[in-house]
Amino acid sequence: MSSRPKIAFVCDECGVEHAKWQGQCSACGQWNTLRELSVPKAAGAGRSAGYGGAAPEVTRLAEVETAPLERFPTGMGEFDRVLGGGLVPGSVVLMGGDPGAGKSTLLLQVTAKLAGDMPVLYVSGEESLQQIADRARRLGLPRDGLTVAAETRAEAVADLVTRLAPRVVVIDSIQVMHVEAASGVPGSVTQVREAAALLTRLAKQTQTVMVLVGHVTKEGHLAGPKVLEHMIDCFVMLDSPAGTRYRTLRGHKNRFGAVNELGVFAMTEDGLKEVSNPSAIFLRRPAEMSPGSVVTVTWEGTRPLLVELQALVDDLQGGHPKRISVGLDAQRLGMHLAVLHRHCGLSLSDQDVFANAVGGVRIVETGADLALIAAVVSSFRNRALPRDLVCFGELGLTGEVRPIPNGQERLREARKHGFTQAVVPRANLPKTAIGGIEVHGVTTLNQTLEALSALE
Ligand code: TYD
Ligand code: MG
Repeated sequence: MSSRPKIAFVCDECGVEHAKWQGQCSACGQWNTLRELSVPKAAGAGRSAGYGGAAPEVTRLAEVETAPLERFPTGMGEFDRVLGGGLVPGSVVLMGGDPGAGKSTLLLQVTAKLAGDMPVLYVSGEESLQQIADRARRLGLPRDGLTVAAETRAEAVADLVTRLAPRVVVIDSIQVMHVEAASGVPGSVTQVREAAALLTRLAKQTQTVMVLVGHVTKEGHLAGPKVLEHMIDCFVMLDSPAGTRYRTLRGHKNRFGAVNELGVFAMTEDGLKEVSNPSAIFLRRPAEMSPGSVVTVTWEGTRPLLVELQALVDDLQGGHPKRISVGLDAQRLGMHLAVLHRHCGLSLSDQDVFANAVGGVRIVETGADLALIAAVVSSFRNRALPRDLVCFGELGLTGEVRPIPNGQERLREARKHGFTQAVVPRANLPKTAIGGIEVHGVTTLNQTLEALSALE
């Protein structure tokens, strides 16, 4: 049998292997992303059946011993919140984000603090040790405890981990790591995958926390995301909403906790500062309200967040009517407009509709439906809504308004920030009134529009 390595064509975008070269990857649809690679044959490949070692065993689930998950906080509350309470020994965390988002800054702050209590290793393959030391000095971080290494060879990192036995290792970044035994240039999907696989095995064997930094390509994908995402335990993204100094850290996968927790930071001259009351920063509104604006209360992980939604409805400028939304689901916007037409007789087919969640927030839950449609109608009618009004609730296709989770907490958050009126699903009405806020319960979109016009 031949022992020649197999030739494969691997997509740089999604990591899927193809037997032949083709212009477009049939898995992810990207063009010119296939790269020829020789894949070493796995040991024993081609041999049929047979495996070494002991016979496999099965166990009834009830007989498997469980222990409460051990985790330790990093001391940075917003980071811990997204991780589900802290770092879990032996886990692998992937932190993604645009270049310049602040990944290196955040992780340097976290590790410099942690290093006071435990051995920590910061491996940088992108910046020199002087640059890191300089940044730590400027940020006023303790520099005694933290061990740093400038290294891009994954095997060498493994050696260091075995020798120094750190409890936390940061790899900045996984894209510059390479594995000598694997083919492909550094940065290629094969190299990133092999390096991540090696470091993941090491994390499990040594019970070390491995934090991998990953850059996002301009299309918004991590290089080789598919190949990494199934390997790692947690995937968090550090986003920088355009034009602001705020940074949001969001969990996209977490084997040890809830996802969609949101951590908020501000980038300052002294590094990243935690923002423990994010509602305040996303709500900077003028004293005089304009048509097309309303505040909603979304739910981010375990806490409410007040966000202003804006809509602009304008006469169609030729062609198809535009339905554009930023930070909100464009498909849902289209759906709401259909409901508005069918159940309330309000047609916007000769109008362009633009919608935006202010402050660069991305809203992923359905609780913003009612506020979005309220903003659209307000803009269309050119009538401003009151400044002290919040609105939330889900809109169904039959024109019904559906309750959403955590209604009471959302109303309390609104009250805390000075809002005195709310239009919400009737089923979300508080059982006992909340002092200082008048809450109107609605069950249909028609009722919602009536309640809103009464408040204008
Ligand atoms: P960095 O952590 O290097 O980003 P990443 O590792 O995600 O690529 O952050 C770089 C940006 O942050 C850079 O534009 C400068 C800015 N910054 C500050 O504003 N204040 C600071 O204290 C630091 C360290 C960086
Ligand atoms: Mg960096």
